[in-house]
Amino acid sequence: MKILFVCLGNICRSPTAEGVFRSFAPEVDADSAGTGGWHVGEPPYGPMQTAAKARGYDLSDLRARQFDVADFSRFDLIIAMDGDNLANIERLRPAGNETPVRLFTDYEDSGADAVPDPYYTRDFDGALDLIETCARGLVTAL
Ligand code: 4NP
Repeated sequence: MKILFVCLGNICRSPTAEGVFRSFAPEVDADSAGTGGWHVGEPPYGPMQTAAKARGYDLSDLRARQFDVADFSRFDLIIAMDGDNLANIERLRPAGNETPVRLFTDYEDSGADAVPDPYYTRDFDGALDLIETCARGLVTAL
């Protein structure tokens, strides 16, 4: 089983989702990517790393990369952090490919329809709370 977490920059939400999910399900092959390429090669955003580290998630080895059309065949499941990410991924889907692309919030039941981007909201702990809840739900659904 291979799962790819996708956000916009791959420096806040999706690397955190990758790190949290990995700690919950170490047997699953997890990766993350961004639909945008501005931060390729960079480690996760400092304040995001600090908030994650405080909960025991070390994101320091992760490096941003851009989502690639080949990811549709490399992964069994693609998880988007919000509807814009999902639409941008779907736009790249090759003809005939049927890899499921889901919202991360499909795996929680509070009614949220996105993981708000803490790069803009500055609510890194709120993002972590939601990411942990979604990751737990995803583990249960596998
Ligand atoms: P992410 O947050 O999608 O959760 O990694 C972002 C970080 C930076 C930018 C966009 C989103 N940016 O445009 O620089």
